[in-house]
Amino acid sequence: MASFPEKLLNKLHEVKSQNKFRTLKTVYPTIDFSSNDYLGFSSSGVLQQHVASFTPSVNSGSTGSRLISGNSVLFNDTEHDIAQFHHAESALIFNSGFDANLGLLSSVPQKGDLILSDELIHASLIDGIRLSYATHYKFSHNNISQLKDLLERHHSSFNEIYIVVESVYSMDGDSAPLREIIALSNHYHFHLIVDEAHAIGIFGEQGRGLCNELNIEDKCFARIYTYGKAMGCHGAAIVGSKQLKDYLINFSRSFIYTTALPEHSVVSIKKAYELLINSKEISRLKELISYFNSQTQADNSFIKSNSAIHCKVVPGNTQVSELEQKLSASNFFVKSIKSPTVKENQERLRICLHSFNTFEEINQLLQLIAS
Ligand SMILES: Cc1ncc(COP(=O)(O)O)c(C=O)c1O
Repeated sequence: MASFPEKLLNKLHEVKSQNKFRTLKTVYPTIDFSSNDYLGFSSSGVLQQHVASFTPSVNSGSTGSRLISGNSVLFNDTEHDIAQFHHAESALIFNSGFDANLGLLSSVPQKGDLILSDELIHASLIDGIRLSYATHYKFSHNNISQLKDLLERHHSSFNEIYIVVESVYSMDGDSAPLREIIALSNHYHFHLIVDEAHAIGIFGEQGRGLCNELNIEDKCFARIYTYGKAMGCHGAAIVGSKQLKDYLINFSRSFIYTTALPEHSVVSIKKAYELLINSKEISRLKELISYFNSQTQADNSFIKSNSAIHCKVVPGNTQVSELEQKLSASNFFVKSIKSPTVKENQERLRICLHSFNTFEEINQLLQLIAS
């Protein structure tokens, strides 16, 4: 049998000894406070029904990259609709949010440019930045004065400046101070990139996202919408100017050098937008979010959030795992988020609310956590 490098074995032993070993599960507790299916589009089967009712001759595979044989009228039409919905000139579909972020950040900022990012941005954005030749500095989470200092210190030394944030942070549930960031553009010239992965389907008119809610869509250089969360399917789109789309088609390697999504996935994205436009689930989810906040506002261990993601900080990997197991034993599916995914002593229980959860389930969950 092929040998496995000792250094890698040691790394596995190390994560095991630190209670950080990850494994894949196939069976989940039934009361879902964990998945990203915020509106139930996937688990209720409603999106699948809509997709099944759409009857083009759907192929199993797209047969090539978008630039070779994988493009279709369906892709073009869907991107046109996405751009219209998000009030942008253009949209470009990627195979996943990870690919979109990787392809955007690795290709757009150039040598001689500066990237300023929140310290808590998603791994896909971080990896994209790592592949870029631009200079990169982080500012502490949502710290506008630090961002302003960095802009003040560096704005005249770089060609272009890109600021990278998330409208809803995936491991905290809180939001970037987008209006304050935009206000800085009165003094400094920069391009704002906003990952809306956890905001689509929750904020804005018909779930258009937080940039829509704050009326700043046209102030963003690029916005990323992912479809594996509230939209209940798969894939992602980057929306922005026509030049941005042209640029990505020509230079974004995670777009160019991969087989395009199959038609079924593109139809799913199209149908998920139709569901979103007519959705009653968004207002139901908002009621549950308000209720959850009313029940937890006095408890400082909960990170303040208006999104579907709510976190209770429980320091220690062992402690937070034990709480997850206790909840699981009562059939509640809530994930613990351990270090190194979050900083040490910031380990937490990550509770995702869904339109299909009930007030009673929230009450039971909070009682169990408190007991
Ligand atoms: C903020 C954020 N951006 C991007 C992604 C990646 O999206 P996808 O799951 O479609 O690859 C995620 C998923 O975890 C995310 O939380």
